Amino acid sequence: MAEIRLRNTDERIQGEDKVRAFLDKQNVLYEHWEPSKLPEHLQQKFSLSDEDKAAILATYDAEIRDLAGRRSYKTWDIIALSESTPNLDELLKKFENVHTHTEDEVRAITAGRGIFIIKGDDETGYFDVELEAGDVISVPEGQPHFFTLMDNKQIVAVRLFIEPAGWVAQPYADPAFAK
Ligand SMILES: [Fe+2]
Repeated sequence: MAEIRLRNTDERIQGEDKVRAFLDKQNVLYEHWEPSKLPEHLQQKFSLSDEDKAAILATYDAEIRDLAGRRSYKTWDIIALSESTPNLDELLKKFENVHTHTEDEVRAITAGRGIFIIKGDDETGYFDVELEAGDVISVPEGQPHFFTLMDNKQIVAVRLFIEPAGWVAQPYADPAFAK
């Protein structure tokens, strides 16, 4: 279950109803897919073959098509990151800059953990959304954010796109953001 940390106050928001209500208010979609549906050998596997990726997509085919149908996503794929990913540290450095996209950034976590850092409304400021397997999030088009891994540096997620070109990152220079 996702947890929120408000960066300005260090306040944490926990519990499905509170997390969903908070994210709703910030226009961030939050849903849940059942993590135990995934075959057990894939629940802790972070270096994936094409067959593994196909198995994950097949497991969540109904959830993917339901979400895509409601929100006009046309394509989807799997991203897997772990210590075995070549140049992981460089990749993470590239990720860790506030940016926007011209379409939603959708991630359904199927294994591991990760954090979206998102710019909320003026009163809220930046907040962290700590995600684990089963958490599904969509950061709206144009909303400044970035993504990083948690300490164990392991994640597998389904990504959904309207068109992959829409996911090109536009840097967002924000003097209000302090890491
Ligand atoms: Fe992004």
